[in-house]
Amino acid sequence: MEAIIQISNLDFYYGKFQALKNIHLSIPKNSIVALIGPSGCGKSTLIKVVNRMTELIPGTRVCGEILFEGKSIFDPKISITDLRKKIGMVFQQPNPFPLSIRDNIEYGPKIHGERDKNKLEQIVHESLDAVMLWDTMKDKLKQKATELLPDEQQRLCIARLIAVEPDILLMDEPCSTLDPMATLGIEELMEKLREKYTILIVTHNMQQAARVSQYTGFMLLGELLEYSETPLIFSKPKNKKTDDYISGHYG
Ligand SMILES: Nc1ncnc2c1ncn2[C@@H]1O[C@H](COP(=O)(O)OP(=O)(O)OP(=O)(O)O)[C@@H](O)[C@H]1O
Ligand SMILES: [Mg+2]
Repeated sequence: MEAIIQISNLDFYYGKFQALKNIHLSIPKNSIVALIGPSGCGKSTLIKVVNRMTELIPGTRVCGEILFEGKSIFDPKISITDLRKKIGMVFQQPNPFPLSIRDNIEYGPKIHGERDKNKLEQIVHESLDAVMLWDTMKDKLKQKATELLPDEQQRLCIARLIAVEPDILLMDEPCSTLDPMATLGIEELMEKLREKYTILIVTHNMQQAARVSQYTGFMLLGELLEYSETPLIFSKPKNKKTDDYISGHYG
């Protein structure tokens, strides 16, 4: 399968501390890839490197290569704004802007220069539709986004990314603050989004990884110890440490 992201020989340092060690990871287009592993193993660091968010942290250093559609994301000629538009991120805590639902969605397209009212209207409609919020929100687009239910806020944050037409959605434990029903709702949404996007998700919830992803990577102490098709990781892990983790022996 065609890899949309190809990570090779990736090392990452916070000061002298090495948080990622020689990571190799290939992410096929239109797949959901889950990263699992105990707290502090480097999952969030890895997904943040993929859209160069870690560069905001002083004293950090990255070595190795990440290709996005065959081109280096570290190429000095590429624009970070464009990169983050193509590779968007959803966080643990839903973080809509304290603006109306409509303004949240229009924010990104406006920053990227969209001024046409009809086009913006269409983007709001399509983005909310993509996250299955249009029917419930279409008559209250002026409502403040921060007043929505937590899972609606998380959907809105995904819609806000979709509004700028990304290729990849990075999700760092997107359901960790949601109840089980809302979690299942977001998982169904992810399955639908996979038709158009590629998703890299960090999760502590192994059932979630098993349910939603096609490929799973198990990380430990900054290394990607095992990476393969999700059913294989959960039924026949090759590494004893993966086995220990998925059977709940640590983490
Ligand atoms: N800003 C930072 N400065 C220094 N060290 C950091 C920083 N952020 C993370 N680390 C360290 O890097 C390592 C990996 O952290 P990271 O947040 O990527 O782990 P994680 O797998 O996402 O953990 P969790 O499951 O708890 O979210 C940890 O040892 C952490 O303490
Ligand atoms: Mg994390």
